[in-house]
Amino acid sequence: MLVRARRSVRKFDREMPVPDDAVRRSIELALLSPNSSNMQLWHLTWVRDPAVRERMVTLCMGQNAAKTASHLVVFQTRQDLWRRHAKWNLEQAPPSSGSGPDERRMKLMRKYYGVLMPLAYRSDPFGLNTLVRRLGSFLLGLTRPVMRLGGSGWQRVILHKSCALAAQTFMLAIQAEGYDTCPMEGFDAVRVKKLLALHRGADICMIVAVGNGTPAGVYGERRRLPTEEVLTII
Ligand SMILES: Cc1cc2nc3c(=O)[nH]c(=O)nc-3n(C[C@H](O)[C@H](O)[C@H](O)COP(=O)(O)O)c2cc1C
Repeated sequence: MLVRARRSVRKFDREMPVPDDAVRRSIELALLSPNSSNMQLWHLTWVRDPAVRERMVTLCMGQNAAKTASHLVVFQTRQDLWRRHAKWNLEQAPPSSGSGPDERRMKLMRKYYGVLMPLAYRSDPFGLNTLVRRLGSFLLGLTRPVMRLGGSGWQRVILHKSCALAAQTFMLAIQAEGYDTCPMEGFDAVRVKKLLALHRGADICMIVAVGNGTPAGVYGERRRLPTEEVLTII
């Protein structure tokens, strides 16, 4: 089973690189991941160039996974794209027919992507939008259940949830191709952004090292806390 077979592998066989096709297919699958409101506020940078990959090693704190990887994929969130992606979602709506279910769907989408998304994602230097979101949620929440909207921290969490799911899908897809991965958060985000010329709105979620795993790359048994310690059944 894929989920059981996947391990974080820190040493890859550099003599047997992972073919580009396998990475490309896995990226396509990663982009099918569930994501908040289908806003797809993510961006992936696939580091294939050996010279750039080499320079990434020091920025990934010299980790073996980075040192021996055939590919590195940098998963980033892109909050700055919210307007463009909300518009794109709106454009996917069926053409207006004047009445019927399509028209109702269109109205709903207009409300969702035209009103709710700006409400959730808009930000300003004075925090006025956050204040409106917090106050609005609080007041509405006095009488009924509401989604509690918040500030930049809340927005960031939303984006990273979706991006991390894409990274996980990618890792499972690579596993299904017969190769291995190691997710990494041990890197210098400032320098990685500079080296890869990432967009200034990019926030790196994690870097996934991809390669042909070696037994020495699995550091010991897989250990997890007892299920009962982390699970509550009500
Ligand atoms: C967000 C995230 C960041 C991680 N960062 C690193 C890292 O920088 N270096 C590393 O060797 N492993 C890293 N890991 C791998 C974890 O250490 C690993 O998943 C955990 O020990 C469980 O082992 P398993 O993946 O083999 O089940 C990271 C995992 C996640 C999910």
